Amino acid sequence: RDSGTLAGRHVVVTAGPTREALDPVRFITNHSSGRMGYALAAACAAQGAQVTLISGPTALDLPADVDRVDVQSAADMHAAVMAAIDTADVFIGAAAVADYRPATTAADKIKKSEGDTQLALTRTRDIIADVARDHPQVFTLGFAAETTDMENAARAKRERKGLAMIAGNVVGPEHAFGRDDNALFVVWDGGERELTQASKRELADQLVALMADRFSQTRAG
Ligand code: C5P
Repeated sequence: RDSGTLAGRHVVVTAGPTREALDPVRFITNHSSGRMGYALAAACAAQGAQVTLISGPTALDLPADVDRVDVQSAADMHAAVMAAIDTADVFIGAAAVADYRPATTAADKIKKSEGDTQLALTRTRDIIADVARDHPQVFTLGFAAETTDMENAARAKRERKGLAMIAGNVVGPEHAFGRDDNALFVVWDGGERELTQASKRELADQLVALMADRFSQTRAG
């Protein structure tokens, strides 16, 4: 059968970490470099897709032929995705979105006092799960970054979020975050495939080829 292509399709990609402000000078974030998401955006653009990259703060250069929307918080990222999703054919959630944000953001810098303190946190909204639920015509590709039992966690996460496809990877001090290589375990409805250790750019090309193939299959009915 023919391999799929994303030529002429609109692909929305999230990448990087989010920053959840405590006050004007402090925030909660994570170690995501944004490399995987940027590499996926570049791979989709190389196939001729129109790519909107919705990016948290990263140190990366914008890939050729990609439109970038810069965001900070999970709430900003959610709003930017929903503003772009109506025309999308594919959504790739590669961002490491914060699961919690401070319950309140102080207008002024929080002062220390002598004793210990506690931080109240509120759940953020799950962007990719909202896309899958409210825009079922969009082909969704998510990630599952896990420290243990990665394959089962990826399978379960795909089902729970209602995603077309998920790519699991092992994270931790020795793996993935901030590194230029990675390995992926890809799961979709009716199949699984391992993509062995390679540079994020090489893996992105392989994953986008696999995704384009599945996307074409679902569109062919
Ligand atoms: O639940 P977990 O954070 O492990 O899921 C990871 C996947 O869900 C990634 O594709 C990530 O981009 C996406 N996600 C999201 N919005 C959130 C949390 C995760 O889109 N608030």
